[in-house]
Amino acid sequence: MKPTVSEILYEQACQVLPGGVSRNTIFRTPHPFYADKASGCRVTDVEGVERIDFANNMASLIHGHAHPAIVSAVSEQLQRGSAFSMATEAEVCFAQHLCSRSPAFDKIRFVNSGTEAVMAGVKAARAFTGRAKIAKVEGAYHGTYDYAEVSQTSSPANWGAPERPSSVPVAEGTPQGALDDVIVIPFNDPETAVAILNQHAGGTAAVLLDPMPHRVGLIPADRDFVHALRRWCDVNDAVFLFDEVITFRSTYEGAQAWFDVPAGPDRFG
Ligand SMILES: Cc1ncc(COP(=O)(O)O)c(C=O)c1O
Repeated sequence: MKPTVSEILYEQACQVLPGGVSRNTIFRTPHPFYADKASGCRVTDVEGVERIDFANNMASLIHGHAHPAIVSAVSEQLQRGSAFSMATEAEVCFAQHLCSRSPAFDKIRFVNSGTEAVMAGVKAARAFTGRAKIAKVEGAYHGTYDYAEVSQTSSPANWGAPERPSSVPVAEGTPQGALDDVIVIPFNDPETAVAILNQHAGGTAAVLLDPMPHRVGLIPADRDFVHALRRWCDVNDAVFLFDEVITFRSTYEGAQAWFDVPAGPDRFG
């Protein structure tokens, strides 16, 4: 039988991309779907099959594909240049706009990916506190920074005792030092989480939380859980980091607005 366009593309891809993909999540057996074009909520693959796109690039395309206003604005900018070793008015306007959306945002630092944003947040918390450890929820995905990915894929075979979850690496070769500097806490279990955190009180720079972690079932964090973590951070001079890479688009102010926690350094409770 004649190979399909997708089969030919995948065979070529395997010569130049590890595993044939540049993004693990798009892999399908026997090969990924190859997009040709998209408009609004519909995407057409290279075989000519049109589908409704429920993924929208993991929800980043909140306006759908190729929205005319976005195409027009981006095309106009491309003709004026797209990247400069200089500052731009656009970055100032965009930062002003984002700061106006959430009382938690005093200032914005733009980065290229969620992984980098989490990494920058962790590094800032370490610089601010002079401490090395971070705490994160077991199973939560925060990108691929060594520390942030710990225990994202732990299983009954290796996750340890509930009152002292193990730090389980994702990548082969993760340094032991990275594992030792990550405290793993259970989701939506404030008592156990706080008891675990208390064992590391003096050395913890930050508690990292996705308010609705998709790999933990897309269940919103309980108010009690968020409040307990925020209180713990305040009492122990640690930084509370919301990872809103996905959830910031849930409401105009982001999902953190669900929990009535103070923005910035105001102490809570
Ligand atoms: C909650 C969360 N944090 C961080 C990341 C990492 O973002 P990126 O893929 O842009 O590095 C993701 C990616 O889906 C995410 O869902």
